[in-house]
Amino acid sequence: MKIAVDGPAASGKSSVARELSKILNLPYLETGKVYRLFAYIASQNKVKYPLSLFNEDFDVVFDIGITRVFYRGKELSEELYTEEVSTEASKLASLPELREKMIEFFRALVGQRQVVAEGRDVGTHIFPNADIKFFITADPRERARRRYKDLVSKGIKVTYEEVLKSIVERDKRDSERPLYPFRPAEDAIIVDTTNKTLEEVVKEILSYILQKH
Ligand code: C5P
Repeated sequence: MKIAVDGPAASGKSSVARELSKILNLPYLETGKVYRLFAYIASQNKVKYPLSLFNEDFDVVFDIGITRVFYRGKELSEELYTEEVSTEASKLASLPELREKMIEFFRALVGQRQVVAEGRDVGTHIFPNADIKFFITADPRERARRRYKDLVSKGIKVTYEEVLKSIVERDKRDSERPLYPFRPAEDAIIVDTTNKTLEEVVKEILSYILQKH
C-alpha cells in the first residue's frame, strides 16, 4: 500500500504521516527533507547549476517513522529546519527541471515498496496511483502559531509575525509556480487540522483507510 500525505507548511502533515507510518508499520518518506537537504548543500557549496546537486555525495534512507538524510557521510537533521533553509528549499522546488528529477528520484528510491510518503506533490505527481491520498491543511494563522511554538522551543529567536509572513510567502511561491503548482490531488481526502489534536486527526485518517481496505 502506498499512502500519500500532502499539505502546506506546518499543517501537521509530518506528525500525522509519521504516526501513520508507526501504526501501520510502513516506512515513512519525508520528501520535504530531501528538498531541504539540497537547499543546505547548495548554500554550503554555492552550487550554480541546481541539477548538479544530484551528483553530490548524499544519501536518503527511510524506515518506520523516520527519514534520514546524509551529506558526505554525515547525518543532517536540526540544521535543515531553519527559516533560511525553508525559504531556500521552496525556491529550489520552484525549478521545474529539478522537480522532474526529484520526482524520478523518489519513485526509484521507493520502487515497489509500501510507503507513507509525505510532501507537496506525492498524490499529484510522485505517486498519482497511490492507494489513498490525504491533503492535510489548517488555517495559516494556526500553522504559524504551531511553527512559532516549535521554533521557540528549539531556542530559535523569531517573532510570530515573521513566521506568519514566511508561511504565507512560502504558500504563495509553492502554489503559484507555473509548472507543478502545489494543490491537492483531485481524489485526495481533505483533512483540516485547525482546532484538532494530532490524535483526533490520526483517528480520522485511520477510519478512512479502514473504510477503503
Ligand atoms: O515539507 P517541508 O516544509 O519540509 O518542505 C520544504 C519545502 O520543500 C516546501 O516549502 C516546498 O517548497 C518544497 N517541497 C516540494 N515538494 C515536496 C516536498 C517539499 O516542493 N514534495
